Amino acid sequence: MLSEKMQDALNGQLNKEMYSAYLYLAMSAYSTYIGLKGFANWFMVQYQEEMMHAMKIYDYINDQGGQVKLMAIEQPLTEFESPMDMFEKTLEHEKFITKSINELVDLAIAEKDHATNIFLQWFVTEQIEEESNDKDIIARLKLIGKDGNGLLMLDKELAARVFTPPATAEGI
Ligand code: FEO
Repeated sequence: MLSEKMQDALNGQLNKEMYSAYLYLAMSAYSTYIGLKGFANWFMVQYQEEMMHAMKIYDYINDQGGQVKLMAIEQPLTEFESPMDMFEKTLEHEKFITKSINELVDLAIAEKDHATNIFLQWFVTEQIEEESNDKDIIARLKLIGKDGNGLLMLDKELAARVFTPPATAEGI
């Protein structure tokens, strides 16, 4: 059973995950537009991951007998200055999401909602990986600088990323 406050907060997080998906889809589209198909693939996989995050929350609210309430999804940016710009914005956004997840955990603890607290732990761990991936790619892009060959090599590497769907409907 979810309190109304917890339900509202989870619906808010569901919306943020949908926005994340939309943002990375926009980055994938832009990467394709500028001819970086590997970057486009990486962001497309990220889009799929974010949709999975959103659906985990969707399923959880339903499983707890709560009500999913969908809200408008904000329009993402459509233009970016460079691959570095996209990854800096990605990291900045993921830090915002981490903060939001931590606030949800704080609320679950304050409400003694143990089930939601346990549910959220998966997201706490996931955020460590998300931020770490972004930092790695930013470090690589710094090393590459203006070296076109280096950028094409990284593009080839990012082309290999694949989305692995969770083993169960809830991904646990
Ligand atoms: Fe769903 Fe990238 O956090």
